This record gives sequence, C-alpha cells and structure tokens, in this order.
Amino acid sequence: MHARAARAPGLFAALPAEVSIFEVGPRDGLQNESTILPVEKKVELIEGLVDAGIKRIELTSFVNPRWIPALADHMEVAARVRRKPGVSYSALVPNLRGLDSATRAGMQEIAVFMAASQTHNRKNINKSTEEALATYREVVHEARARGMSVRGYVSTVYGCPYEGSISLDSVVRVASGLLEMGVYEISLGDTIGVGTPRQVEYILDGLLAAGIGLEQLAVHFHDTRGTALANITVALQLGVRTVDSAVGGLGGCPYAPGASGNVATEDVVYMLHGMGVQTGVDLDRLVSVSAGLSGQLARELPSKYLKAHLGHCARLGRSVT
Ligand code: HMG
Ligand code: MG
Repeated sequence: MHARAARAPGLFAALPAEVSIFEVGPRDGLQNESTILPVEKKVELIEGLVDAGIKRIELTSFVNPRWIPALADHMEVAARVRRKPGVSYSALVPNLRGLDSATRAGMQEIAVFMAASQTHNRKNINKSTEEALATYREVVHEARARGMSVRGYVSTVYGCPYEGSISLDSVVRVASGLLEMGVYEISLGDTIGVGTPRQVEYILDGLLAAGIGLEQLAVHFHDTRGTALANITVALQLGVRTVDSAVGGLGGCPYAPGASGNVATEDVVYMLHGMGVQTGVDLDRLVSVSAGLSGQLARELPSKYLKAHLGHCARLGRSVT
C-alpha cells in the first residue's frame, strides 16, 4: 500500500466571509449591445438588480454620445432611477463636461477610466496617458469638491489589443497616479479577457510592493477566454474584496477589438455562495432579471448559470420567474 501524500490544509482558508459585487451591466454591458434598450427598460433593469440585492451599480456613462451611442440617454437614465438607501450608484465620466452632466443628473459617485496602455488611451479617450492623468487630476479634484466619491479604472492591465503585453510599471504608474488624486478604489480591468491566475498574483504582488493596499483594489474581468472565475478566486484568496461583474455576462469595450462579455454576476454569485462567501444578492431574483434581459435583447446571454437555469426550467416545464 502506498502512503497517501500529505497536503497543506485549508486551500481556501484565505477566502473572505463576504464580497462586495460591483454591478457594471447597465454600463459596460449595454455600451456594447447593438439593440438599444429604451430608457424605461434600462431603469427597470437597474431597479430590478438593486431589488435583487445589488448594493453598488454603474448606471451609465457621461461620455460623448457619438463615441458610445448606446448610452446617449445618460441624462434620462441617471435622473429617473429611483435611489434606494444604502445603495451606491456610479457612472463613468471622462472629462469636466461629463462631470457637469453627472452633477446635473444627481450623481454622488463617478468613475474615471483610462488604460495602462498608451495606444488604448488614444483609441478609447483620444488622449495620451499623460493627458488623461492631467484631465483626471482636474476632474477628481472638482468632483470631490462637489462632495462626490470617485472610483478609478485601469484598463488593459493583463494585455492590450493594440500593444500586446503591458509592463507592470505602466500599471503601477497609472494606478498610483489615480490614487494620489483621491480616487477611493482602483478597478483593475482585464479588458480583453487574456489574464490567467498566476498573472493575477504577479500583478497584485506588484501593486502591493508599490505600496497600494489590496483594500483599495477591485477586479474587473472580461471572460473572453473562460479564465475569469479562476482569476477571481485567486484575487480573493490574496485579499481583494470587490468584484466587478455584469448581469447575464454582457459587456465589452467598443474600442478594444476582441473584447467580449464581463464575467456574469450570476456565475460569480453562484460560485461564491457555493463556497460559503456571502454577497447579499438573491440569486433567484437575479437570474429572473437576466432571463428578462435576454428576452429584451433578443439573444442568448453568455452567463453559464443562466443557461443552466433556463435548461432546468424547460425540463421541468416551469416558467423562469
Ligand atoms: P474628443 O472627441 O477628444 O473630445 O473625445 P473633445 O473634447 O475634442 O470634444 C469633441 C466633441 O465631443 C465636442 O462636441 C464636445 O462637446 C463633445 P462638438 O463641439 O464636436 O459638438 N464631448 C462630449 N459630449 C458629451 N459628453 C462628454 C463630452 N466630452 C466631449 N463628456 C472623449 C474625448 C473622452 C469625450 C471621447 O473619447 C469619449 O467619449 N470616449 C468614451 C469611450 C468609452 O466610453 N469607452 C468605453 C468605456 S471604457 C471600458 O469599457 C473599459 C472598462 O470597462 C474597464 C475594462 O474593461 O478594462 C471601464
Ligand atoms: Mg470593462
């Protein structure tokens, strides 16, 4: 008889009891859809997600509607969503003009966004990295003076559709620059879904070594190559506590060729609850929102949990809700 090999106990011992889900579907998801939902359907979607237990949600983007036509209705959507106490509502803002619109629409939180890659900044926000940092210095200062909190995104952290691999130094430089301005959290974007778990460890270790605390970081994975849930598990084991995701697995940046959906909120919530990690989200209510959205967009959505749930309901001859 062979002796059984011993292994270190507690493989998942570092998982937290609770994770904060940051829902980006109404923004990252809808920005890339060819079907443009009417304002009332967007408002219904956002309110449905909040009723399912989402506590942090991105409503829209105050960007140039010529660049992102699907979110041209940003003023109406942001103004019409009924605010629920205890929930934070955010929106992307690229410049002072966007900040003024966000202020008029009653936003109390905004997010500035840029890439670690020079070329992606040129393609996505028509600025060099230096110009973007200078613009955001003013935007963040002014937003905070207006009493808003500001989140920051760093895109192309795991790779860029134009430049390929991106140096850790570029990621650290942009993340540190945004934090110094006063953003409260940096969301690290795997814009085109190329990251793998070891890379997650390498990048988080690099940011830690540069003096950035894990409590200041969130992860934002597009699931283009199927690695998002594995990457999230590693990020949580290492100490990250906020995960961005999109209902149904919608998403993608129109200025990042090859980018596809964000990791689906249902898939993340299913996995976390299964591992005993709480999110405060009611999975049944969430999946009924994504099933409704799939009907409105007239297409199958990428979420694996949604597909399994729809199959299960069909086998039982049951309606989805
Ligand atoms: P620009 O053309 O350089 O801007 O665009 P400009 O300052 O030269 O102005 C040109 C025109 O745009 C003017 O109008 C401005 O008024 C107007 P005109 O005089 O020609 O009629 N304009 C605006 N209109 C409405 N709202 C504004 C605004 N600003 C200027 N805020 C700009 C620069 C940044 C505005 C443009 O490039 C833009 O809107 N880009 C947005 C791109 C975007 O939203 N991409 C997707 C989000 S990023 C993402 O998805 C990644 C993320 O999910 C993380 C990840 O996955 O990694 C966050
Ligand atoms: Mg994204």
